[in-house]
Amino acid sequence: MTARIIEGAPVAERLRAEVTAEVARLRADHDLQPGLAVVLVGDDPASQSYVKSKGEQSLAAGMHSVTHRLPADTQQDELLRLVADLNADPLIHGILVQLPLPKHLDEKAVVSAIDPDKDVDGLHVINAGRLVAGLPALTACTPVGCMVLLRATLGDLAGLNAVVVGRSLLVGKPIAQLLLAADCTVTIAHSKTRDLPAVCRTADILVAAVGRPRMIRGDWIKPGATVIDVGINRVPFDNPEKAAAGKTKIVGDVNYKEALEVAGAITPVPKGVGPMTVVCLLQNTLTAAKRQAGLEA
Ligand code: GUN
Repeated sequence: MTARIIEGAPVAERLRAEVTAEVARLRADHDLQPGLAVVLVGDDPASQSYVKSKGEQSLAAGMHSVTHRLPADTQQDELLRLVADLNADPLIHGILVQLPLPKHLDEKAVVSAIDPDKDVDGLHVINAGRLVAGLPALTACTPVGCMVLLRATLGDLAGLNAVVVGRSLLVGKPIAQLLLAADCTVTIAHSKTRDLPAVCRTADILVAAVGRPRMIRGDWIKPGATVIDVGINRVPFDNPEKAAAGKTKIVGDVNYKEALEVAGAITPVPKGVGPMTVVCLLQNTLTAAKRQAGLEA
């Protein structure tokens, strides 16, 4: 048996069309143009490419979009001043400070300074708390994207055993909460979990969000399970000539080749979860704009 491949792009395109249509409607009916501000500190190449894509895709959806690129030696108080200005800017409904920040900056303090109503990353403690409490919250984009793919693949998730490997604030913790809200039985596994392969084998839904290339092996997967691979890891090519030339490629946290033989369905890396993330950011910006304008119950 070979697993069904869960392609992110077609689902992302459907969602993008909905968001774009809703932005057009808001502009026409309410003179409201959702606005997103993205802040990048420093010149990490991966962050630069993500930020570029966020800027381009928000503009393409008809949003107001501003990208602030600050030098790597930006001081904490300067960054906090920018966040305060964006909090006060009526044209901006969503604020995203790209992580990780350079080491001398205090990430937690910066995230706490963002107005929770504009926190389209869902990282502020208010949004994390609202998610746990079952109240309307802005929720991190990657976990929301994973849930959309899971629902598109499996339909109703109630009663399924879900194992989330990884406990980060940006992915592991929020996706565990979303799975719980969808009535899954949820286990959060991490680096101290005993017999991780056995825990993974209990999963009907296995979410890998650890940031370790190909860590999850085929024999850790229950036959027929749905596997969501959130990992984005840069590794040398398997081909020795290409590797010697310094060429790299992107792989997930799951050993894809092995998993294909066991899983019922699996997201590839790239082209699985990746395309969903920015679309979910656009959706969060739209939601934030509507709530700030009093247009959503
Ligand atoms: N770095 C990698 N992914 C993300 C994300 O979703 N949000 C932010 N702010 N930084 C990131």
